[in-house]
Amino acid sequence: MISSLNLIAVPVLLCLLRHSEETCPSICFCTSDTVSCSSSGLTKIPKSLPSFPITLDVSHNQMSWLGPGSFSKLSRLENLWMAHNQISDLAYGAFQNASGLRYLDLSSNKLQRVEQHYFQGLWRLEELILFNNKIAQVEASALIGLSSLKKAYFSLNLITQFPFFSIQDRSHPFLTMLDLSSNRITNLPWQDVKALPGLVQRGLYLHNNSFICDCSMYSMFWHWDLREYDTLKDFTDEHTCNINGDPRASIRFLRHSRFFNNCTVERAVSLPVTVLLSRVLVSEGQNVHLDCQTSLSSTNLSFIWLSPSQGYITQSNIDNTLMSLFANGTLEIQAAKVNDSGLYVCTAVDIKEALNTTREINVTVLLPEEESFNTGYTTLLGCVVTMVLILIYLYLTPCRCSCCKQPVPLVIPIATYEPENSILSPSTQDQQKSNYNKHVAFLQPMLNEQGPEWAHDI
Ligand SMILES: *[C@@H]1O[C@H](CO)[C@@H](O)[C@H](O)[C@H]1NC(C)=O
Ligand SMILES: *[C@@H]1O[C@H](CO)[C@@H](O)[C@H](O)[C@H]1NC(C)=O
Ligand SMILES: *[C@@H]1O[C@H](CO)[C@@H](O)[C@H](O)[C@H]1NC(C)=O
Ligand SMILES: *[C@@H]1O[C@H](CO)[C@@H](O)[C@H](O)[C@H]1NC(C)=O
Ligand SMILES: *[C@@H]1O[C@H](CO)[C@@H](O)[C@H](O)[C@H]1NC(C)=O
Ligand SMILES: *[C@@H]1O[C@H](CO)[C@@H](O)[C@H](O)[C@H]1NC(C)=O
Ligand SMILES: *[C@@H]1O[C@H](CO)[C@@H](O)[C@H](O)[C@H]1NC(C)=O
Repeated sequence: MISSLNLIAVPVLLCLLRHSEETCPSICFCTSDTVSCSSSGLTKIPKSLPSFPITLDVSHNQMSWLGPGSFSKLSRLENLWMAHNQISDLAYGAFQNASGLRYLDLSSNKLQRVEQHYFQGLWRLEELILFNNKIAQVEASALIGLSSLKKAYFSLNLITQFPFFSIQDRSHPFLTMLDLSSNRITNLPWQDVKALPGLVQRGLYLHNNSFICDCSMYSMFWHWDLREYDTLKDFTDEHTCNINGDPRASIRFLRHSRFFNNCTVERAVSLPVTVLLSRVLVSEGQNVHLDCQTSLSSTNLSFIWLSPSQGYITQSNIDNTLMSLFANGTLEIQAAKVNDSGLYVCTAVDIKEALNTTREINVTVLLPEEESFNTGYTTLLGCVVTMVLILIYLYLTPCRCSCCKQPVPLVIPIATYEPENSILSPSTQDQQKSNYNKHVAFLQPMLNEQGPEWAHDI
């Protein structure tokens, strides 16, 4: 009896001993799902780590390199904390078999580059933390496989160029924060940044860089400022640029936009906005609100509208019962008429700062008859009637040769399945567009969250 108990107990005991020996290196603390070996003078990842941890903390050590397969036995690893080491390079396959990683903190290390192979295979990674390194270069495809990425921190490095083009809606659908603040970026590749997904633009931190003041740089920020992105609002004073690239001549460009007045930035800037905001389609009789939101942030602005039918409209000269100008610059057209169509130009004037900016809105007022024809129901009804007429025509008219040869009427029913191609609705492009927009008041389509709404280039 006793011997048989021993037979069972000994291997179990041995096993337990061996397990605990292998699991927790003496310099580490091990809990149910976490192994912490921080501040223990490690120069490399301990060889015999338990396989259970979900979180491994090896921060505040002396590691300078990550060898291949450093974590390959930690099959459940999700969080890896390696901040405050001396890591300057990662071997090929450093994260081999660690594809479950979701959180990787390599901040406050000595990385000088982010190479293409560094994060290969980490397709589940959600947060990549690389701030406070010495990174000067991020290789073009370094982030390409990180399709779950939500947040990437690159601040406090020496980055001069970033591969913005590698960040796309399809490759990084969840990315909402890209922190490139406190780097050495002098010029932004305007086309690439403009093409970034809307959510990335909204979460793009670029303050405290070394931008050279110029109009294209400013116009991009002007856009984001207009949309009141927190990335700008929270760091208004840290957004600086250097005049002629001279760091001694640094200005806070979100505060002092006057510099950019000179370089006709408003022209360069307002164009894409203008195009975006320009189309307001309403049907006759509706009330129209035209906003005059501009880059000027002062609360003490006066507004002047130039309207196609009434000429200049200001708060003091408005004597028109069909239009009103609100203190916030919004112009209201009551019961719009076709004659009210045209280009409306608003100028916001900050008298104290002697600043002007303008905004242009192209208003098109449609006749109500056109509008009513556009409803799906009418279209359907019209098509049914047309088909009936065709059938009557085909079956009740005696067949003459010319009629039998003409296949024309057969084409018509096809159109009934596509309301947009409706044979009854007006067929010009403009009026088709009005199909889409007929219920939309959209005065500010650009303030949508989704998508990079820079639809039109300068
Ligand atoms: C690591 O992954 C490779 C394939 O990528 C596989 O062949 C190998 O068995 C894995 N090793 C471990 C320890 O899981
Ligand atoms: C700006 O960046 C420099 C390094 O480029 C850094 O030393 C400084 O602390 C940063 N300032 C702020 C306010 O972030
Ligand atoms: C703006 O233009 C004026 C005259 O064209 C020039 O004297 C002035 O230096 C310019 N200001 C800046 C900030 O470039
Ligand atoms: C301006 O004020 C009017 C009336 O109070 C309001 O309807 C409109 O939405 C306001 N516009 C903006 C951009 O706040
Ligand atoms: C529109 O303007 C024209 C001349 O500009 C005028 O003859 C016509 O009566 C106006 N129509 C309306 C509905 O105000
Ligand atoms: C602003 O516009 C007014 C009239 O539209 C013009 O007289 C003035 O010079 C402009 N101010 C600036 C700073 O452009
Ligand atoms: C305004 O829109 C109409 C039709 O939508 C177009 O014909 C006209 O050229 C536009 N005007 C301007 C100044 O863009």
